[in-house]
Amino acid sequence: MANRTVYLPVAPPGATLRRDAWWAGPAATVVVLGGFIVYATWRAFEGTDYTYGAYLSPFYSPFFDVGWAHAWGLRFFTPAMLILPGPASFRFTCYYYRKAYYRAFAWDPPACAVGERAPHRYQGETRLLLFQNLHRYALYVALVFLVVLWKDAIVAFVGWKDGVHAGIGSLVMLVNVVLISAYTFGCHSFRHLIGGGVNTYSTAPLGNFRHGLWKLATLFNERHMLFAWMSLFSVALTDLYIRQVASGQLADLRLF
Ligand code: FES
Repeated sequence: MANRTVYLPVAPPGATLRRDAWWAGPAATVVVLGGFIVYATWRAFEGTDYTYGAYLSPFYSPFFDVGWAHAWGLRFFTPAMLILPGPASFRFTCYYYRKAYYRAFAWDPPACAVGERAPHRYQGETRLLLFQNLHRYALYVALVFLVVLWKDAIVAFVGWKDGVHAGIGSLVMLVNVVLISAYTFGCHSFRHLIGGGVNTYSTAPLGNFRHGLWKLATLFNERHMLFAWMSLFSVALTDLYIRQVASGQLADLRLF
């Protein structure tokens, strides 16, 4: 018998038989991710109140002088405008975030078993979406930023002019870099980098060591969504805390 193409009835966008709150995830993604993008863009243009004592906002780290841009008449230019695309490229191409923002913003589909915006048009990550394959390289960029953020967190304790101190800001920066580390080390590309490409760990060079690291990365990988959101909150709150302290709207409590 000849093969025949069978066309299934197409549900309108959002139509579903599901009775659970399937819309909650996409709605939260729009609010939180959209809010973060607006806040980060505003802070990148603001260009002030990003450092206080030994604290440096993660949005402005590593800090560098942009006097050269101002000398060219680019008065609006701030260091964050060159810094933020680095970590942003890592998050934007992250396998988890792709799922979240494809569902929330493209509605293609918005959730499993829910009518999509453009039925049967999905062609995988081809054409314009080919750039998503750059994620493994964005990981290398993120690892460099991670080293810088750990340095900043240490400086937040030992970098005071009058000795070693810990303020609330020091703890905020430390928690932030721990959460970003948990997110980065749970990256699928990182997990492949340290544990992939071998047939058996028992015969691979440094096999036992790599297997241990791979198991550790797997622990973070299994909670990748959790750390993706927690680290997004923490990086914004760390910047906000330092901004408020630097602008004199909040007093930093010194613990010792
Ligand atoms: S898969 Fe999410 S950061 Fe790599």
